[in-house]
Amino acid sequence: MINCISAFTSPIIQYGVADSESFRSKLIAQIYDEKEQTESVSYSNGGGGWQSPPQRKLPELVESTLSHIMSNVLTEDYAYTIGNLWYNVNTPQSYNHKHTHPLCDLAAIYYVKVPEGDCGRIEIENPNYFNQVKLLDAMNPKLKEDMLSFTSMWFPPVEGTGLIFPSHLMHRVSENNTTEDRISISWNITIS
Ligand SMILES: [Fe+2]
Repeated sequence: MINCISAFTSPIIQYGVADSESFRSKLIAQIYDEKEQTESVSYSNGGGGWQSPPQRKLPELVESTLSHIMSNVLTEDYAYTIGNLWYNVNTPQSYNHKHTHPLCDLAAIYYVKVPEGDCGRIEIENPNYFNQVKLLDAMNPKLKEDMLSFTSMWFPPVEGTGLIFPSHLMHRVSENNTTEDRISISWNITIS
């Protein structure tokens, strides 16, 4: 018998926010309003684009969705808090360099406005990439597929949805090759 177990995996949570259309326009206006009034802060936007200074709150429906997700993910003994929270406006041709989110447990994204076309996908790297580089390269593609043991995974953004993943996972966003802005919200989550 041969049984290959996909052990020590990283949870990458995909979620959707019900009724996201109901707050989309107002949120976009609020983000552009903030952009008008503030200079860009540098988190991961060495590739251009604009990132807001820290914001206080998530949109209500995103916050309630997050609460629902976390109550499913964590045991009752643990709570979570939202740390730094900021808006990203990836203007045409901008991108985000590879980075991690230190000093927290999870990194989260919500996609507010996603132009049609190649507006930038997020690439999340396999944390074992360095240690297993030869093995990952040599492994049978079918087995790799079954175990999701790729060197990295790409996720196209979908409006009204988002991702939550361990904050140590290295990630980047490819270039926005459309003529419109791509807008998202990022925040950190700490477990206590
Ligand atoms: Fe990030």
